[in-house]
Amino acid sequence: MERLTSPPRLMIVSDLDDTMVDHHNDPENLSLLRFSSLWEEAFRQDSLLVFSTGRTLPMYKKLRKERPMLTPDVIITSVGTEIAYGKSMVTDDSWVEIMNHKWDRGIVEEETSKFPELTLQRDCDQRPNKVSFFIDKSKAQQVTKELYQRLEKRGLEIKIIFSGGKALDVLPKGGGKGQALAYLLNKLKAEGRLPVNTLVCGDSGNDTELFTIPNVYGVMVRNSQEELLEWYAENAKDNAKIIHASERCVGGILEAIGHFELGPNLSPRDVSDLFECKEDNVNPGHEVVMFFLFYERWRRGEVENCDAYIASLKASCHPAAVFVHPSGAEKSLIDTIDELGKYHGDKKDKKFRVWTDQVLATETTHGTWMVKLDKWEQTGNERKCCTTTVRFISKENEGLVWENVQQTWSEESEMKNDSNWII
Ligand code: GLC
Ligand code: MG
Repeated sequence: MERLTSPPRLMIVSDLDDTMVDHHNDPENLSLLRFSSLWEEAFRQDSLLVFSTGRTLPMYKKLRKERPMLTPDVIITSVGTEIAYGKSMVTDDSWVEIMNHKWDRGIVEEETSKFPELTLQRDCDQRPNKVSFFIDKSKAQQVTKELYQRLEKRGLEIKIIFSGGKALDVLPKGGGKGQALAYLLNKLKAEGRLPVNTLVCGDSGNDTELFTIPNVYGVMVRNSQEELLEWYAENAKDNAKIIHASERCVGGILEAIGHFELGPNLSPRDVSDLFECKEDNVNPGHEVVMFFLFYERWRRGEVENCDAYIASLKASCHPAAVFVHPSGAEKSLIDTIDELGKYHGDKKDKKFRVWTDQVLATETTHGTWMVKLDKWEQTGNERKCCTTTVRFISKENEGLVWENVQQTWSEESEMKNDSNWII
């Protein structure tokens, strides 16, 4: 978050399962990819992405390996009981302290064990400040009431949340997705970085609190659970800042960005002619996102096999531009693009996808831009990632000229050498 010197234009705070990630209807993750390219092209630079999930940190990391997920600026896990920042996920220690106030996991375990209606969830879903169970929907209300009283008598201050028609979480009273968001907003405000707009996105019971935070926009995705929709009907249906989207999952988030006019919501993936899509302002991030999108389409054989495309890419390179391959080999960038020309359609029907993450541009000297990003490539289940740095010079009438591209294998990459890697 430190990179932002002024208030973020938009902060998206989104749940993951069945909100960002569609587990039922989108095996190719197309909606997620549509959102990702829009975020990187139009928002990453001056906005904040926050994931707020019921998953524990290890289960979040597992999801990250399974889906083409972006790296959030802030990750709130275990139903708002843990907060961490940045790519390296630095824990918020002050939040840990708040979570331990009038909380004792041992007492929670002891009291909950007296309820035969509660079935403990797997070990990997338990955390120091989150004790999670399954329960029959019809028993949830009664058990919540009794358990709450028992724990109060034992001197604890807790909160019980019912989600997805079957999950019951016991958390510290100060925890939960809503409290975690309020804490984050306060922290940003104190730093003079209160977002201009905040959009919360969710689908189930543990997301309810997000929609109670003052002044935020909210989207309940189309496939929202009964418990969230019921809460909305009883408590918030007159709030024009909250919508129930007509699109599923992340499609609903794109819909809300448009509905509330929070910024552009046409994903680069929905643009058919990438070469026509020119920006008025200098936006090196746009240039990079569009290039790798073209690269995906070229190798999938989804654009015409036409020399003019390759010629146009070469024309935007400086004649002496250098490409440093992740193997360390140096080549001419123009030769590299010529080589790409030979790979038209080689990944057809191979479940090939390319996406960019953490695309950040800085102007180093007047007219010279450095863009840093992670470039991911997936074929079937095999993924690779290169940390990529692109240097551009901005020339009048010519727009941005590619001067240098350097790649190194990312730590997160499953493969760290591949002689077939093109760029
Ligand atoms: C996620 C968590 C689970 C929790 C549920 C509801 O599915 O994995 O432990 O009970 O969210 O918050
Ligand atoms: Mg969810």
